[in-house]
Amino acid sequence: MPGAIYAEGLVKTFGDVRALDGVDLDVPEGTVLGLLGPNGAGKTTAVRVLTTLLQPDSGRAVVAGLDVVRQPNDVRRAIGLSGQFAAVDEYLTGRENLQMVGQLYQMSARDAKARAQQLLERFNLADAADRTAKTYSGGMRRRLDLAAALVVSPPVMFMDEPTTGLDPRNRQALWEVIEELVAGGTTLLLTTQYLEEADRLAHDICVIDHGKVIARGTSDQLKAQTGGERVEVVVHDAAHLTGATEIVRGFGKGEASVETHTRKITVPVAGGAKLLAEVIRELDTRGIEIDDIGLRRPTLDDVFISLTGHAAETENEAANETANEAERKENAK
Ligand SMILES: Nc1ncnc2c1ncn2[C@@H]1O[C@H](COP(=O)(O)OP(=O)(O)OP(=O)(O)O)[C@@H](O)[C@H]1O
Ligand SMILES: [Mg+2]
Repeated sequence: MPGAIYAEGLVKTFGDVRALDGVDLDVPEGTVLGLLGPNGAGKTTAVRVLTTLLQPDSGRAVVAGLDVVRQPNDVRRAIGLSGQFAAVDEYLTGRENLQMVGQLYQMSARDAKARAQQLLERFNLADAADRTAKTYSGGMRRRLDLAAALVVSPPVMFMDEPTTGLDPRNRQALWEVIEELVAGGTTLLLTTQYLEEADRLAHDICVIDHGKVIARGTSDQLKAQTGGERVEVVVHDAAHLTGATEIVRGFGKGEASVETHTRKITVPVAGGAKLLAEVIRELDTRGIEIDDIGLRRPTLDDVFISLTGHAAETENEAANETANEAERKENAK
């Protein structure tokens, strides 16, 4: 039986760009799928097709047992969506925004009010509840938008980069809310650039690039595919970074990656603790002082880099945040 979110051969083109190039998905009921991919991979396009905001050129998608192309209105009633860019009404207060959503979903005024209060507390917005949303910071808007998506608890939820722009405490709070939702039976498709988030929340992970699924599995399965351990070395003196990289690379069985500002070199290895001792000896012989060295398992970040050839990019997001912030200040004038 197909899962609560099911897609087969989804294609969506924009001119020459094949934003979705034959995507298949199957998310069992009550589980979380983490959809990962670099900027422009097609994540938002997939979410928009699955939430009926965009018609696919071809392929089929069924959400909560309903066909997204043939039964869009029924699908909309069965889902919740929090988009990449917060959709809140600037001129309403936080509380009014949430109450309005409740009423759109035909809650009684009393229930909508109670639910709004509960969510405002949950998302640390109680103090700002009666200010208009245009006075909110970027992170506050984000939280209000997420709260709005949770006014009714739909059986299937879509969240497009839910925690982008949230501070660590609010990110943690959202993760807890999501875990509760899922424990209550909600099926969730979540896109994220924070691989730690996918690691913590997602039962299954699907990596897309250029509109195609390039890997799928559990976090552990993907890590296992990426290969064994890594040696990580932090050199004391930045001037030794190049020399040390050459040495460490010599012990590796793959490309070394170098983080200049932290003076950190990482390379995949085979050979465990014995090899680690050899690396330390060799660095010592060459007079290279180190601040830290260790062996570690691959992280989802390593998986992402080895699959897509680059790190999860957040610069664009940061640029968008800045743009949104500028626009907000402009509006607030
Ligand atoms: N309305 C549109 N018109 C033209 N091109 C579009 C449109 N929407 C998306 N695209 C293109 O489709 C591709 C996929 O975009 P999409 O927004 O789905 O990526 P994404 O994976 O969500 O990226 P990000 O991580 O930056 O949010 C990109 O090349 C993008 O430029
Ligand atoms: Mg996107």
